Amino acid sequence: MNLKKFRKIGGFAINYAGSQVRVPISERTKWNVSVPVQVYWMVTRRCNFECQFCDVIRHPDDVRQELTPEEAARFVHQMADMGIYKLGISGGEPLLRKKHILAAIRAANERGIWTGLGTNASLLDEGSVIELADAGVNHLSISLDGMEETQVRLRRNPKAWSGVVNALRLVKEKADGRMFAKLNYVLNNQNIDEILPVVNFAKENGVSIVFVPYNTYNQNFIRTMTQAEIAEKDNLWISAENQPKYAGIVDTLIAMKKKNPAAILNTVSHLRQVKTFFTNPKSNITNRCGSAYRNMHIDPLGNVIPCWTFTQSMGNVKTQSLKEIWYSDQYNQLRKKMLRCNLLCMGGCRMFPTVMDILFDGARMVRAKVFG
Ligand SMILES: C[S@@+](CC[C@H](N)C(=O)[O-])C[C@H]1O[C@@H](n2cnc3c(N)ncnc32)[C@H](O)[C@@H]1O
Ligand code: SF4
Ligand code: SF4
Repeated sequence: MNLKKFRKIGGFAINYAGSQVRVPISERTKWNVSVPVQVYWMVTRRCNFECQFCDVIRHPDDVRQELTPEEAARFVHQMADMGIYKLGISGGEPLLRKKHILAAIRAANERGIWTGLGTNASLLDEGSVIELADAGVNHLSISLDGMEETQVRLRRNPKAWSGVVNALRLVKEKADGRMFAKLNYVLNNQNIDEILPVVNFAKENGVSIVFVPYNTYNQNFIRTMTQAEIAEKDNLWISAENQPKYAGIVDTLIAMKKKNPAAILNTVSHLRQVKTFFTNPKSNITNRCGSAYRNMHIDPLGNVIPCWTFTQSMGNVKTQSLKEIWYSDQYNQLRKKMLRCNLLCMGGCRMFPTVMDILFDGARMVRAKVFG
């Protein structure tokens, strides 16, 4: 591992460890002493795909108002000034805005910030893989929701499969170990049978995978309907009929995770929630979400929003600093409400590993290494 990568991991680990103390203090006292662990930047809502399940592309922005490369690099420097060491870049399809993301990635690399880029992989070729690795991207999160036929059908694009296969090969052959790839899988009623084949595919390609349950973005469905009723209206919601098979497969994932923690990146506790997510949605609603103390989200126009569901702007990085926005009274007021959030989402907050998750996974990794 080179020194730069070591510094990035160190910076992130220190901030993460600090957050384990600062977030509970902030939550209990309602006085924000926390620093975000990660900033997520949605570069653009535009995309070259029209995936069946995607909500982002249904709310287009005025692209002329999107952040410029200079504005993006500026907020990244402000992240470093605040001690934030992780940047997640997503979209829409971020590679449609290559100049913009490269400016942000270079600034992040210069300041020791770990950078992940989420992509459908269709626009990656040899030149861009090398360019991204040179700029300092640390990991690519590539979307894969099934084997070839299912992936192309769900993602409604013939390049959805070949792009992923090609990108995995290019990262292996051309990035010189500077950048690694992982897969993102959206669990839904149309790809249950593909879960285990894709886990195998990931293994064959030497990459990890993370599972996220399909979000309907329809809280009304979730609050008022049963699993069978939702599935009748939404063909991506896991049906009551398929639930036993789905639950069995998630149990297999949990067993795999325990045996080889690096293969599946979800925590075991998240996988347990994932298993019952579609059954009785209301029962999954918890009353605590610390997301607003841990993560910051920046939309394509530069608005800082507390999470992708609470989209009320807390300020804009075009005219304000991240620090000023993060510690504003307005943000603090909203944080208190978010702590009592009772929306059902399986996003950032529930996937966040606790110290116990990290310790258990660490112990499992050591055990797997020692005992095979
Ligand atoms: C919005 S996409 C943007 C990045 C890139 N275009 C891609 O597809 O990877 C970010 C991630 O959200 C996932 N996603 C999209 N719609 C979703 C939904 N309804 N529920 C859960 N995840 C979803 C995608 O599969 C992808 O992994
Ligand atoms: S590729 Fe990503 S952003 Fe584009 S439609 Fe699919 S999920 Fe949405
Ligand atoms: S539970 Fe989800 S929707 Fe609610 S505040 Fe947390 S991240 Fe946002």
